[in-house]
Amino acid sequence: MALERTFSIIKPDATRRNLTGAIVKKFEDAGLRVVASKRIHLSKAQAGEFYKVHAERPFYDELCEFMASAPIVAQVLEGENAIAKNREVMGATNPSDAAAGTIRAEFAESVGENSVHGSDAPEAAAEEIAYFFSGLELVG
Ligand code: CDP
Ligand code: MG
Repeated sequence: MALERTFSIIKPDATRRNLTGAIVKKFEDAGLRVVASKRIHLSKAQAGEFYKVHAERPFYDELCEFMASAPIVAQVLEGENAIAKNREVMGATNPSDAAAGTIRAEFAESVGENSVHGSDAPEAAAEEIAYFFSGLELVG
């Protein structure tokens, strides 16, 4: 199995409720290592650029407002099959479909305010990591 990197966001609903540590513990317990991390407050335009693949979806404007409503924690997670493993730890997009023990089952408030983002493919991971971090900030 290959060591892989993925991009994660702890979303505003979670930072607001002081859940950063609880969520990072879920990653670490699953064998994912935080190799870069920063807490930032996105503008709506920056959130819109990040989520541009969803620009035509009906929830896009609300999603961008939400992502700019409070700080986020942007992180790079590293581990064996990190992309798939992170998606597993996150749980389904809609918390009512998320498996027991997943981050979204335990913490998400709704399908929109669902506590975490995680890359869904290697190309997306590379693009998302590069949007938030320079090579110098990936410290292993
Ligand atoms: O985050 P994930 O990859 O699981 O889901 P997505 O389909 O890529 O959607 C991105 C984000 O848009 C979700 O995490 C939700 O925050 C939001 N969303 C929403 O507000 N309403 C939906 N019906 C679907 C997604
Ligand atoms: Mg997605």
